[in-house]
Amino acid sequence: MAGVDAAVQISELSKTYQGLLPWARHEVRAVRDVTLAIRRGEIFGLLGPNGAGKTTAIKMIAGLVEPTRGRISFPAFKRRPAIGAVLEGSRNLYWRLSAWENIRYFGEIKGVPLAQLREQAAELMELFGIADKRDRPAQTLSRGMQQKLAVVLAFLGEPELLLLDEPTLGLDVASSQTIQRLLKRLCAERELTIIVTTHQMDVAQSLCKRVGIMRDGRIAACSPVAELVEHFKRQDYILGFNRAALPKVEQHLAAEQVDYEVVDGDWLDQARLRVKLPAARAVYALMAGLERLDIELTDFRQELPTLEDIFLSITGGEGGAA
Ligand SMILES: Nc1ncnc2c1ncn2[C@@H]1O[C@H](COP(=O)(O)OP(=O)(O)OP(=O)(O)O)[C@@H](O)[C@H]1O
Ligand SMILES: [Mg+2]
Repeated sequence: MAGVDAAVQISELSKTYQGLLPWARHEVRAVRDVTLAIRRGEIFGLLGPNGAGKTTAIKMIAGLVEPTRGRISFPAFKRRPAIGAVLEGSRNLYWRLSAWENIRYFGEIKGVPLAQLREQAAELMELFGIADKRDRPAQTLSRGMQQKLAVVLAFLGEPELLLLDEPTLGLDVASSQTIQRLLKRLCAERELTIIVTTHQMDVAQSLCKRVGIMRDGRIAACSPVAELVEHFKRQDYILGFNRAALPKVEQHLAAEQVDYEVVDGDWLDQARLRVKLPAARAVYALMAGLERLDIELTDFRQELPTLEDIFLSITGGEGGAA
């Protein structure tokens, strides 16, 4: 991709942490030689098992961790963009300040006029169902509510780049979906650029156009989600039919040397098989065979891999979905 259009251009970026303690002086190469361009208005997912280097990468983009080598630039903005961030852990808010005091503090730092801040914060807190927690000290909120408040803080003002490190961690399903909807809307309406890390593969699959999968500090794969799914697609088909026909079908598949397994064994009077064909064209012979046996299909579809399947095959089964 042309670097000039990129919202974030990461070039040969590396971070090596030095062990500080006398008994742990070894170096940790957290991020190794990562080159990546993120488009304006894109929701880019950074995935990878624990310790892969996602947080370190996010912190370097946020300017909180100094790279050991390499460069981060923001060509599309021609200057440093306004950044909103939700970082890992609990350092996104001041514990003793109330929700509203946190909002006022961070809003003022970002230069948001008070009237606009009041309006925006009220709207966001309403949306996340924490409007009644306005005057409660942050430390008395539940973990999920604190996470929601952290997301509200990241959204204040008009960020051009959002860096979200596991933003939906610990949130209930409805809140996670609210955040996802909001992010998609802001990307479409305001060309907001978002880099998000998550261990929830379903979140990544529904939210991100493109993902980079990190492993041991490197980008092991980087593609649009749809292309990854296409690339990892196997010729697996699900067949459903009346259970009474199962012996006949199994005998036929065995004779034709077609690989298959029975799935959902107890599903009412239906039998379901996952048939693994050697090539896409083999589906014609399969259909012709079933027609000869007079099998009435109640289900027939190609089974596509989920992002979770793909993630596990790229990372060799390390870590993965929560
Ligand atoms: N401040 C630090 N000092 C020394 N090593 C660190 C520091 N921060 C992170 N590391 C190490 O760098 C590596 C990458 O850590 P990082 O937090 O970036 O991973 P991550 O992909 O965000 O993992 P997780 O999914 O668990 O959040 C790990 O081996 C970690 O132990
Ligand atoms: Mg992390």
